[in-house]
Amino acid sequence: MAVKETAKDALKIVMYLGSNRNPRACSRVAKFVQNALVKTNHEVTVFDPWELDLPVLKQAMMMVKDWSTLPERLVRANEALVASDAIVVVSGEYNHSIPPALSNLIDHFPLSSYAFKVSAIVCYSPGPYGGMRAAMQLRAMLGEIGTVSIPNIFGIPRVTGALSEEGEPLNDHMESGVGKLITQLDWYAKAIRDRKRENGTP
Ligand SMILES: Cc1cc2nc3c(=O)[nH]c(=O)nc-3n(C[C@H](O)[C@H](O)[C@H](O)COP(=O)(O)O)c2cc1C
Repeated sequence: MAVKETAKDALKIVMYLGSNRNPRACSRVAKFVQNALVKTNHEVTVFDPWELDLPVLKQAMMMVKDWSTLPERLVRANEALVASDAIVVVSGEYNHSIPPALSNLIDHFPLSSYAFKVSAIVCYSPGPYGGMRAAMQLRAMLGEIGTVSIPNIFGIPRVTGALSEEGEPLNDHMESGVGKLITQLDWYAKAIRDRKRENGTP
């Protein structure tokens, strides 16, 4: 993989999982992407809708004055999001669209927690299209919440033949695909992080 950096300079990434099913294809993709990010010295925090177990949105954090009324795990997750440099979403495609567990998870956090961050999309499907139709809609959503969506989208068609359950790659496209995504993500996220360090945000 192309990116190498010192631990001191490591980017903090929050990885959103898009599936609340169990079992799910998402787990193998998430393991693979997380491994690739860690190997290239990125710190990864996973936001898993299954583990966070949030309800279908009843209260968006940004509309709640007293956060002590919110679930502790949501407040802690928001702290990790605020501290992060970039987000990566790992998403399948439900009815040619964004899985509801993913949009629900994204919607729980305040827009200010996403502002001036970079985002990357990894999508997959059991068929030939690799979840690209959901990715197109995700790109619009990720822009709307205030992130800069990198140009590269890593699509994984025929996902169960591409990655083992443990997230081991089963074809050459996996390593090269994730490598291109991480190289771009790293570049954009560092450019924005450095600019924020020098000038803050408007
Ligand atoms: C509600 C629902 C809608 C789906 N719609 C699509 C679809 O539009 N395109 C597609 O390629 N697969 C579709 N699938 C199949 C999923 O891609 C497949 O079940 C995949 O494993 C979902 O990811 P997950 O296992 O991580 O939840 C759909 C599955 C579900 C449950």
